[in-house]
Amino acid sequence: MTPDLLEQGARRVEQRMAALVDDKSNTESGGRNASNSRIAMPEGEVDTTHGRILYLEDVSVSFDGFKAINKLSLDIAPGELRCIIGPNGAGKTTMMDIITGKTRPDEGTVFFGSTIDLLRYKEAEIAQLGIGRKFQKPTVFEQLTVFENLELALKTNKGVKASMFFKLDSQQSDRLAEILVTIHLAESVGRLAGNLSHGQKQWLEIGMLLMQDPKLLLLDEPVAGMTDEETARTAELFLTLKGKHSLLVVEHDMSFIRTISDIVTVLCDGSVLAQGTLDQVQADERVIEVYLGR
Ligand SMILES: Nc1ncnc2c1ncn2[C@@H]1O[C@H](COP(=O)(O)OP(=O)(O)OP(=O)(O)O)[C@@H](O)[C@H]1O
Ligand SMILES: [Mg+2]
Repeated sequence: MTPDLLEQGARRVEQRMAALVDDKSNTESGGRNASNSRIAMPEGEVDTTHGRILYLEDVSVSFDGFKAINKLSLDIAPGELRCIIGPNGAGKTTMMDIITGKTRPDEGTVFFGSTIDLLRYKEAEIAQLGIGRKFQKPTVFEQLTVFENLELALKTNKGVKASMFFKLDSQQSDRLAEILVTIHLAESVGRLAGNLSHGQKQWLEIGMLLMQDPKLLLLDEPVAGMTDEETARTAELFLTLKGKHSLLVVEHDMSFIRTISDIVTVLCDGSVLAQGTLDQVQADERVIEVYLGR
């Protein structure tokens, strides 16, 4: 992408920021309130010297007496791409809700690296710590261009005023250009997000997460509703992200899982039923019974 395009994009963003920032502050309680937090944010890198970027132990949560998560323990290594599968209602989304601070568990331990106790942080703070989450439905700003959406992703944690006068520095411009290529949208930089295909919107949202350079990315059913071709490109995309980021991917699409997975964790009734390569878990009688053999 040329510097001209970047510059044009930056100008357009400035023109529309005021309205947008107003919109956001009316509908979200998130990011900007985080600075009022009573807990000091840890600085610098997540400590992964013990070989784990995410660690859950004996986590449980009940909704009206129903145990959605039941003594769940899970370990994710730095740079790992972990796939999570399991029947509907197994607790996959609830697990992500717990990691991201949306749901508070009744008991258990949730650590980011070996020093950050995630249960001490609020949802917006956890995002700032470097955990990005993608929900199933794309939530891009349809009325903004691809460029503007990506640029906006850098501003979400800033105050209203700082956002209005925000300009990409050269490092951020480089990153934006690089991410555009990674998410296959370099040719569409000036298009309105509302005019993108469903798959492209999903990629754009992943790009928005990448702009914040998350250490851990949680992706809930990222290829649901995609065409076969979009699914294949998404698999490629995830394989390029692996190693640079840690990824936790929940999916029902087994051929997609087959393409991207190393270790697959099978969740059932709120805890881990089996874990191993896809071939291993697919051959597991218990897994066949509750899930794959349906
Ligand atoms: N906030 C909530 N209040 C009450 N029940 C809930 C809540 N969140 C989840 N549940 C219940 O917890 C169980 C686990 O749901 P969850 O959405 O985590 O499953 P899942 O594995 O993501 O399923 P799917 O594959 O269908 O997305 C379900 O029975 C669900 O109805
Ligand atoms: Mg779910």
